[in-house]
Amino acid sequence: MRDNFRALRSALPTARIRFAVKASPQPEIIRLLADEGAEFDVASIGEIEQCLGLGVDPAVLCYGNPIKKATHIAAAYAAGVRRYAFDTESDLERIAEFAPNSEVECRFLASAPQSQTPFGTKFGCAPGEAVHLLVRARDLGLRVVGPYFHVGSQQLDPAAWRIGIEQAGAIAEALAVKDISVTAVNIGGGLPISYADPAPGTTELGEVIAAAMAESLPEHTELIVEPGRALVGNAGVVHAEVVSVRKAPDGRRWVYLDIGRYNGMAETENEYIAYRFETGRDGDPLEEAVVAGPTCDGDDVLYQRTRVLLPTTLQAGDPIRILDTGAYTASYSSVSFNGFPPLAVTVIGAERE
Ligand SMILES: Cc1ncc(COP(=O)(O)O)c(C=O)c1O
Repeated sequence: MRDNFRALRSALPTARIRFAVKASPQPEIIRLLADEGAEFDVASIGEIEQCLGLGVDPAVLCYGNPIKKATHIAAAYAAGVRRYAFDTESDLERIAEFAPNSEVECRFLASAPQSQTPFGTKFGCAPGEAVHLLVRARDLGLRVVGPYFHVGSQQLDPAAWRIGIEQAGAIAEALAVKDISVTAVNIGGGLPISYADPAPGTTELGEVIAAAMAESLPEHTELIVEPGRALVGNAGVVHAEVVSVRKAPDGRRWVYLDIGRYNGMAETENEYIAYRFETGRDGDPLEEAVVAGPTCDGDDVLYQRTRVLLPTTLQAGDPIRILDTGAYTASYSSVSFNGFPPLAVTVIGAERE
């Protein structure tokens, strides 16, 4: 994680790096990244309390979830949080009322290509609306930071950030006409990692982002980047076990694990993320397998269409490692669905810190 953080820092030396806590809200991770100088994107009062409980300065927290209750904004403000993101006028008005004089970023829906785990149109206003809302933010006595977009998680196309930054540049220009100077652009997360398929690296992304910033925004504009997956994804491994193997009536081999969609493998929904598997029998002949979780639920299948090759010799009781599972796994685990417990997390190496 430290290497990931430092690689991003050297790819974007002037950027403020804000870790999206939801990707892995582990105390050791939050402490390590705080020591490295990270800021934190928090999605809820729970995440705010988690960070504050670990000694993180509330000044470096941004309540980035555009969906929040007035009572939660008030609680965040009381806890010292002074940075908020929004994408609707009603949320903006709640921030003005319950978190007066705070910094605000307006999330717009960038015209970026679809990512591997897309948000669709759930978040973000139209770019033109962002101009209107940021003017309103100023008029409500809030401190305007600037436009904010997220190109969708595990975004494989570097052009997505160029497109978003160009749109942010147009918003900044329109705001300048209204005497509002954008202080920073938040380009969100979405930075990908390599799973079964390779992803563009941090250096390549950094070059595209830096070039687009230089092209589209005044030199003094700060850059905020908000990664989750790219900082923690390759730092985790899920240790699972094969519960059974069978040939189904359709002739396909099914491999059932003791964890599945509801125990951390949420991102296999729609087969969005193709994880890699490692077994003690690697090296034996391989054959395709459908990989499924243990619950009595038809949706608890990790891969039906994605081609997964596993050793023909694999059998019940074998350990199986699911690689690069440090992001969006343990924190996405359901609470005892079908009576199967959430993923337990063991942090290795923290004792050396
Ligand atoms: C507001 C916000 N910022 C940042 C992120 C991090 O995205 P990623 O893990 O793709 O970098 C997310 C992920 O859902 C998010 O919701």
